[in-house]
Parts: sequence; C-alpha cells; structure tokens
Amino acid sequence: MVNIRKAKASDVEAIYSLINMYAQQGLLLPRTRDSLYENLQAICVATIDNQVVGAASLHILGKDLSEIRSLVVAEEAKGRGVGKLLVEQIVEETKKIEIKKLISLTYQVTFFEKCGFQVIEKDEMPQKVWKDCLNCSKFPTCDEIAMAIYV
Ligand SMILES: CC(C)(COP(=O)(O)OP(=O)(O)OC[C@H]1O[C@@H](n2cnc3c(N)ncnc32)[C@H](O)[C@@H]1OP(=O)(O)O)[C@@H](O)C(=O)NCCC(=O)NCCS
Repeated sequence: MVNIRKAKASDVEAIYSLINMYAQQGLLLPRTRDSLYENLQAICVATIDNQVVGAASLHILGKDLSEIRSLVVAEEAKGRGVGKLLVEQIVEETKKIEIKKLISLTYQVTFFEKCGFQVIEKDEMPQKVWKDCLNCSKFPTCDEIAMAIYV
C-alpha cells in the first residue's frame, strides 16, 4: 500500500537518486543533497513497503503563491496513483498554510490536469519566479509549461 508522509533525513539519499535520475533526462531540475536537507520539512515522500518510491516538495514564493517542485515517482511505481497522491498532499499543505495559488512548471500537462491544475500564461507568474529562473540552466529558453491550481 502507498503511504505518504513527511520526509526524514534518512530518506535523502533515495530522494536525491530519484530526482537526479530524472534530471539527467531533462525532465526536472537537479537538486543537491544540501538543498534537500535544507528544505527537508517541505518535502513529502511516498513509500511502498517502507521503500521510498516518490517525492515532492512545496516551495513558498510569497504571500499568495507556492510552487510544487521536484515531483518524482520511481519508474517501477508509476501509473499506480502515487504521483497524484503526492500532489494532493502538497495541495493540502498549501491549504493549511493559507496560500491560495499553487503553480507547477512542467512537461507533464495531462498528469497535472488530472490533478486539477490548468495551464496559465507564463507572464501571469510574478517576478519572484523569474528571479529563480535566472539561475537555471534552461534560462532563457525554458520550454516548460506553467500550470496552476487555486486551493
Ligand atoms: C509525472 C509523474 C510524477 C506521474 O506519476 P504517476 O505516479 O505515474 O502518476 P499517477 O499514477 O498518479 O497518474 C495520475 C493520472 O495521471 C495520468 N498520467 C500520469 N502520467 C501521465 C503522462 N505522462 N501522460 C499522460 N497522463 C499521465 C495517469 O494515467 C492517471 O490518470 P487517471 O487518474 O485518469 O487514472 C511520473 O511519471 C514521474 O515521476 N515522471 C518523471 C519526473 C517528472 O516528469 N516529474 C514532473 C516534474 S514537474
């Protein structure tokens, strides 16, 4: 059975491997171990039989805006609802802290639509997001799609 819980320090190696495997395929941005430890309280993991099979993190951008980052599901656990459960968890956490808008920059449009997100114009995103983009290897030719859900 799939279990969703907050990440622990002992999960970091598994999360790091998953994220960086997909990052090598250009599907999402790489993360360092340091950035995972520093943001551990913002990360959720999915486990099956106590093994980490997925992760996602909530990044707060401002008073009314947050972003889901580093959403990953292990190849062998895909297609079983794990990704959707992780997104639902991040949506719940966004609600709890009373932030109304959650965005994603992604190539997985159909998946996020099934999670209740809709495509938005990139220029609907505030300056703060673009500030982070300046440090990204994809800048300025990023072809990720901006999506949002109002929670
Ligand atoms: C995208 C990803 C997180 C989806 O995880 P998952 O656990 O396989 O997805 P789920 O099983 O929860 O799927 C939920 C729904 O989305 C659909 N879906 C999932 N991936 C899809 C895809 N690539 N294309 C179209 N639909 C997809 C499923 O069919 C399912 O539909 P249903 O509710 O009608 O049955 C996973 O494929 C992944 O880790 N990909 C590589 C990393 C990545 O791209 N992350 C996103 C960065 S923003």
